[in-house]
Amino acid sequence: MILLCSNGLTSQELLREAKKYGKAAGKAALVVTADPEYKEKNYHVPRGIKELEFLGLSVDIFDFDTQPAGQLPAYDVVVLMGGNPYYLLHSIREHHGEAALRAVAEKGLLIGWSAGALVLGPTIALIDLYHPQLNFLHLTDLSGLGFTEVQVMPHCNKEDPEKAREYQRETGGKVVFLKDGEGVLLEEAPRKIEPRLGVSVAGVEFLNPLIAASGTFGFGREYSEFYPLSVLGGISCKGTTIKERPGNPPPRVTEAPGGMLNAVGLQNPGVDHFIKEDLPWLSKQGTRIIANVAGNAPEDYCATVEKLNGTSVDMIELNISCPNVKQGGVQFGTTCEGVYGITSEVRKHCKKPLLVKLSPNVTDISEMAVAAESAGADAVSLINTLTGMRIDINTRRPILHNNTGGFSGPALLPIALRMVWQTSQKVKIPIVGLGGISTWQDAVEMLLAGATALQIGTVLFTDPYAPIKIAQGLSRYMDENGIQGLSELTGGVKPW
Ligand SMILES: Cc1cc2nc3c(=O)[nH]c(=O)nc-3n(C[C@H](O)[C@H](O)[C@H](O)COP(=O)(O)O)c2cc1C
Repeated sequence: MILLCSNGLTSQELLREAKKYGKAAGKAALVVTADPEYKEKNYHVPRGIKELEFLGLSVDIFDFDTQPAGQLPAYDVVVLMGGNPYYLLHSIREHHGEAALRAVAEKGLLIGWSAGALVLGPTIALIDLYHPQLNFLHLTDLSGLGFTEVQVMPHCNKEDPEKAREYQRETGGKVVFLKDGEGVLLEEAPRKIEPRLGVSVAGVEFLNPLIAASGTFGFGREYSEFYPLSVLGGISCKGTTIKERPGNPPPRVTEAPGGMLNAVGLQNPGVDHFIKEDLPWLSKQGTRIIANVAGNAPEDYCATVEKLNGTSVDMIELNISCPNVKQGGVQFGTTCEGVYGITSEVRKHCKKPLLVKLSPNVTDISEMAVAAESAGADAVSLINTLTGMRIDINTRRPILHNNTGGFSGPALLPIALRMVWQTSQKVKIPIVGLGGISTWQDAVEMLLAGATALQIGTVLFTDPYAPIKIAQGLSRYMDENGIQGLSELTGGVKPW
């Protein structure tokens, strides 16, 4: 079987198809030849390995330039990674790799991403229209390996598709346009695979609606031990401030029925550290990155956002709702004037899509959402934690050193649903719904209440795999109910 895709197995749907054809507990080879300069140091390699390991495969790196092609048929899955298609094609030919690759396609699974997908087709001529400078070998014969008649245009969301359309018109050849997360499976007739869990918030496309909630996922590194982060729609990073913050003194977290209390107090390494140390790694994970921004004063928020403008962050989430710091955050988020003021100020400095995260510690959260919308927010996320408290009955001291903390977890769900539902009736901008989502049924409820995308928080501490299980449950629910896209569910509740 052959699977062509744009940027690896970056959607649930591609992983599912690969799982069908790739033998469980089998062996995979990740071919790095297409990057003649960096080879196994290509920055996509660690993610490529994780995606294959997630399918239960053990992974070896393979290079046509240094290893005999005859080794490849021993693998159940072979992945031709992206890079320079001219070079890849030349190298496969020079080392007589065609027969070995054909053998893999016949008995196992051959996956081509980007350049790898181009060379398996009839010609790589399409790339000549976009990146002729890659042809430093001056290849004149641009015919591909011809394993399929399908010509793909990978990364069609990042490149101008018009040249490919013109090529299609001129040559009469059919071009399949592939966005990241999409693919073509070459069954008897080629079948396009689309991430039907995909959602769009303020122009940012997420391959699924499940975003890790800020503060519950750090900067993702620990969770990347469990699965490739590309299985998530996105990650909202730990709240970032202009300067490093040590956070509150311990104890900072404690359990509570149906959830937990935290008073971490926005501990974080500061925005410069985030940009220099965390973002380069995060941007390679094949998922959307949201920077969650907090501050003591409007100038802090604006300065932080300005620093993020020129980075690869996909979206800014303005945290005006952190209840755990004496100064900063929530004082902006509990009055309409406060929400309007901080949002409009930040809007002036923010060049990225702007999501404003609202506090539930108010009388009417929908009024806060209206204020954010009228101040120029592109979307709102709700809810942050509810202020709570626990007391040690022996010492009579509050368990948290901060005395109070933010309550989160499953018990929040009904409150969050109510708030999302009420807000959805007041604003036109999209809502990212969160608060207590632990199961796929909770996720469906949140969408029905009016959310376009979802964030998953506290449940990650007890089950890091929760977003994957929720995505699988959503997919089944869509099958069983004949739902084509999640937008059919958003706001679909039928109130009495
Ligand atoms: C330990 C912890 C730290 C958090 N830190 C942040 C933060 O830095 N910024 C923020 O906007 N929300 C933060 N939150 C709030 C969560 O993002 C989320 O809004 C809240 O926990 C409700 O969702 P949940 O019930 O799914 O956890 C934090 C929550 C927890 C539990």
